[in-house]
Amino acid sequence: MKYPARVKLIDVGPRDGLQNEKQPVPAAVKIELVKRLQDAGLKEIEVTSYVSPKWVPQMADNAEVMAGIHRQSGVLYSVLTPNLKGFEAALAGKPDEIVVFGAASEAFSQKNINCSIAESIERFAPVVQAALDAGIAVRGAMSCTVGCPYEGEIAPEKVGYVAGLMKGIGVQRVDVADTIGVGTPIKVQKALQATLAHFGIDQVSGHFHDTYGQALSNTLAALELGVWNFQSSVAGLGGCPYAKGATGNVATEDVVYLLQGMGIDTGVDLDKLIDAGQFISEHLGRPTQSRVARALLAKRAG
Ligand code: HMG
Ligand code: MG
Repeated sequence: MKYPARVKLIDVGPRDGLQNEKQPVPAAVKIELVKRLQDAGLKEIEVTSYVSPKWVPQMADNAEVMAGIHRQSGVLYSVLTPNLKGFEAALAGKPDEIVVFGAASEAFSQKNINCSIAESIERFAPVVQAALDAGIAVRGAMSCTVGCPYEGEIAPEKVGYVAGLMKGIGVQRVDVADTIGVGTPIKVQKALQATLAHFGIDQVSGHFHDTYGQALSNTLAALELGVWNFQSSVAGLGGCPYAKGATGNVATEDVVYLLQGMGIDTGVDLDKLIDAGQFISEHLGRPTQSRVARALLAKRAG
């Protein structure tokens, strides 16, 4: 088995990780988290989203956070923009990349962004065009590519259909997301393969929530296909407010440990990453969800 020699991790902790927090997290804490992630060697960070504050109150400070981050050259800062209103608001923060986010499930599309899959693509098309015209990169997130909290199992054909639509409007790369963490390796590989029919291997990333404890296995299954871009969340933070019961993304610490153990380069300093995870976990007042961080913190204490 030949695995990729290096992996690029996109830490989505400040966005996916914190969007579901009930208590407001101050912008200063989010800004510090971004700084600690870049100090730990993360080269891509999903910082915030420009969505309706009525829908996701935790992201209402998007402009303040983007204005406050201490940019480091070589680091890509991305933000979610579901429509032109969000994109126009995002411009002031000078994101390197914007993310339009759709779903392979009709029901989830309705619950999450209040429109059908076809309508979402119609909304995204001018956003993608405006971003490309402005020299901003465009990623597309595809939710519920394996299972949906409302529709159950999702066929790979539906994933391929959405991937094709995303490609058709000019989206440059896509995330294959297991939003509710129900996927297992073969199912995840099928979702990835359906996407790879439309995008090259360098343009497809895995975004695995860890609700059922399968995210690392799914990561390995993706690596076996040659996928080398992954989203993960420091301390395993996260969840989508419109996917009830879904827990956080796979912890970045756990993915880094897995990859280091396999001799795959990530450029991430695991010790510094664990410190970043401790910073946000202490702020939230609960222990990290990362098994690796817990183990290494216990070792440090000993
Ligand atoms: P809508 O209600 O259909 O939008 O929401 P609308 O165009 O009818 O506008 C209604 C109101 O929202 C208006 O305000 C607009 O101005 C305002 P009002 O006149 O009532 O005061 N509005 C906005 N405000 C701020 N920013 C905007 C914006 N757009 C409209 N961009 C909308 C449609 C998409 C806005 C809404 O459904 C929404 O905000 N949804 C948020 C969904 C979300 O953030 N989900 C979590 C992120 S996705 C995720 O976590 C999954 C992912 O991690 C992958 C995975 O794991 O699956 C990416
Ligand atoms: Mg997610």
